[in-house]
Amino acid sequence: MPGVTHGVGRAPANIALVKYWGKRDEELNLPVTGSLSISLGRLGSAVELKPTGGPTDAVWLNSAPLPLNSAFAKRASAYLDLFRPTPGHWYEVQARNTVPTAAGFASSASGFAALARALDDLYGWGLSTRELSILARLGSGSAARSLEHGFVEWQAGSEPDGMDCFAERVAAEWPALRVGALVLCSDEKPIGSREGMKRSVETCGFYREWPGRVAEDLALLKRAIAEKDFAALGAVAEANALAMHALMAATRPPIVYALPETVAAMRAVWAAREEGLGLWFTMDAGPNVKLLFDAQDEAAVRARFPAVQVVAPFA
Ligand code: DP6
Repeated sequence: MPGVTHGVGRAPANIALVKYWGKRDEELNLPVTGSLSISLGRLGSAVELKPTGGPTDAVWLNSAPLPLNSAFAKRASAYLDLFRPTPGHWYEVQARNTVPTAAGFASSASGFAALARALDDLYGWGLSTRELSILARLGSGSAARSLEHGFVEWQAGSEPDGMDCFAERVAAEWPALRVGALVLCSDEKPIGSREGMKRSVETCGFYREWPGRVAEDLALLKRAIAEKDFAALGAVAEANALAMHALMAATRPPIVYALPETVAAMRAVWAAREEGLGLWFTMDAGPNVKLLFDAQDEAAVRARFPAVQVVAPFA
């Protein structure tokens, strides 16, 4: 579009309460199952995108240039390959994460969702949220869920081209819901989600049980959200995360993200629950633990986990 020189986009980070683990199409990031997440409000990514003269793309994160062979720069460039008007058309990507990197929330989902919005802004496509979700998914599956705030459900779809595979907001507000990040280790993970889920689909003997587990958990979670039943929400999220980690452990060679600190945190959550505190956890492909609780219990949670970083998703 003449005169338009840059595009901008923002997107929230998200954490899945019923997880995505396994693809039916690796190129289009089409998942085997649906999933349902909560977006993290103001925590997320902002991207500014400009065409440049080259001779390569330039990717910046939080005002620092990233080496072109770094994981994020490589994935961003590969994603931009899908949109270059001509092969030698380069971009400068200025990405900013408002997720404190140390908080252990994934920033690739919000990063690709913000990049999809920035492309839409740059080229003036005027895409709908559904179309943006499809576009963001091509960068990272979980990015499909980062176009909306609140609870977001990603439909697995069944079309081979993925045009029915997008995420949409679940119509529900839950202002008292809190997510707490317990950062136990910020080292790079031994194996990323992309490689890990591929290995699980190929080698985990229990993988065939997973789609049924997810279908049941999605139904339970949607009922818990509709009925504002916090104990039911916490129970299904925790059980689903543990089922995903069981799949990982039964993958060959096994994938175990938990550290001794992870197991200690899980046990501390169970002990708190035994004593009557409404506290549950979830975990992604890493050793860090995310707590789920109601705002009224924040002081009690902080007393047990002084290092917790608390997010209010609906604030
Ligand atoms: C464990 O979305 O990072 O966080 O589609 O290969 O980019 P790609 O994988 P990614 O996987 C996220 C896996 C998870 C669970 C979830 O977010 O649902």
